[in-house]
Amino acid sequence: MDGNGRWAQRRFLPRLAGHKQGVNALRRCTQACAQRGVAVLTVFAFSSENWNRPVDEVSGLLELLALALSREVPQLRKDGVCVRFVGDRAALSAKVRSGLEQAEAATAHNTRLVLNVCFNYGGRWDIAQAAAALAARGESITEASLNAAMSLSAVPDPDLLIRTGGEMRLSNFLLWQAAYSELFFSDKLWPDFDEAALDEAIADYSSRQRRFGKTSEQILAAPSQPLHA
Ligand code: FPP
Repeated sequence: MDGNGRWAQRRFLPRLAGHKQGVNALRRCTQACAQRGVAVLTVFAFSSENWNRPVDEVSGLLELLALALSREVPQLRKDGVCVRFVGDRAALSAKVRSGLEQAEAATAHNTRLVLNVCFNYGGRWDIAQAAAALAARGESITEASLNAAMSLSAVPDPDLLIRTGGEMRLSNFLLWQAAYSELFFSDKLWPDFDEAALDEAIADYSSRQRRFGKTSEQILAAPSQPLHA
């Protein structure tokens, strides 16, 4: 969800105003995904590296998280959205951790859309924690065992990965899971990412042929799969 800071700066507003607008964009995108039948939406809200931002911005983001949880969870619960937080919770305060746990518990029964919010997350952290968990249990490291120990093992790998804000890189997001994801880079800043922008990304995705190492002819003979963004 890149571009909140630039959205605010272009309006001579503090960066946090962009993050607040980012919460609105996330609400809009979550509803749009649910309406379009997307089964899983995974968003990058705070990276392992974001702690290095100015102290005010970090504390503002943590406050915004708490505020967003209290404001949004009742509606997410009604809308059939199951919220999950993905990332290293050890570095978060007991208060923040308890907020995440309450949001997860309140929506755990929902099945319409799984919303994974990556918070204090990094793709490298995830691979390392999976390897460490296997090592601690004395299990061998294989592609299948690592995959099962990753933090997003409960959901399929993303079909479509969208990065907003015009940058053309993954920035440590879903490094393991995005091996075969279709990448879509949008110039729109995250607060401006609306239903039309989502539809543009899905239409672009729909026009691609995913071969997973197979030939074009093999793929044309196989049935299509549902979308996970
Ligand atoms: C990156 O944009 C965005 C973030 C680091 C924060 C994303 C957070 C939200 C969308 C709010 C929802 C999150 C919560 C708290 C649940 P940037 O600040 O790097 O933008 P820039 O590249 O324009 O500076």
